[in-house]
Amino acid sequence: MILVMKSLSKIVKRILSAAAVMAIGFALGTAGITASDAQMSDIAKQRVAAMQQNGGNMKKLGAAVSAGDSAAAAAAAAINEVASRIPSLFPQGSGTGDTNAKPEIWQNFAGFRKIANDLESAAAKIVADANAGNLGSDPKAVVGSLGKNCGACHKAFRKPQN
Ligand code: HEC
Repeated sequence: MILVMKSLSKIVKRILSAAAVMAIGFALGTAGITASDAQMSDIAKQRVAAMQQNGGNMKKLGAAVSAGDSAAAAAAAAINEVASRIPSLFPQGSGTGDTNAKPEIWQNFAGFRKIANDLESAAAKIVADANAGNLGSDPKAVVGSLGKNCGACHKAFRKPQN
């Protein structure tokens, strides 16, 4: 019963936030809120999509390493590419509205960028190792060498997920 209530309240939350998005869309259409507000919500969508790609690529990477598969290089290259775009997906002023980005990102952008750069280099190393046949066969170690950067950034710069 408790579980049912929990998932119900989640569904309600979702519906409510969808309604809020529609209300914002309506306000944009009628009151003519500046284009930059619309662009900002667009960038938040782009980065959520980029982060979801990260999640998918991490799963692919784990599976590829376990299989001793050369697909590991492709998955790591995709993470490397997304990582290189992280700083530009968080422009100044994009921390409001429907986003889990913490204001700390813009108070310490150098620190934020550093973790993105660390993820980018760790992924580049996996690409190089995989291409050289030096990846090793421990998927946990390989995925963990990237995942620690995901986790470090989320801990410092992302609001807890609900
Ligand atoms: C430099 C910081 C940083 C790094 C590195 C990073 N993330 Fe994120 N991630 C964020 C922030 C900030 C958000 C919240 C974005 C928002 O809501 O606008 C986020 C959101 C997410 C989300 C939730 C997306 C959604 O549906 O709301 C997932 C999944 C995710 N990240 C996965 C990853 C994975 C996997 C990696 C590593 C391969 C990674 N991230 C690396 C900062 C980072």
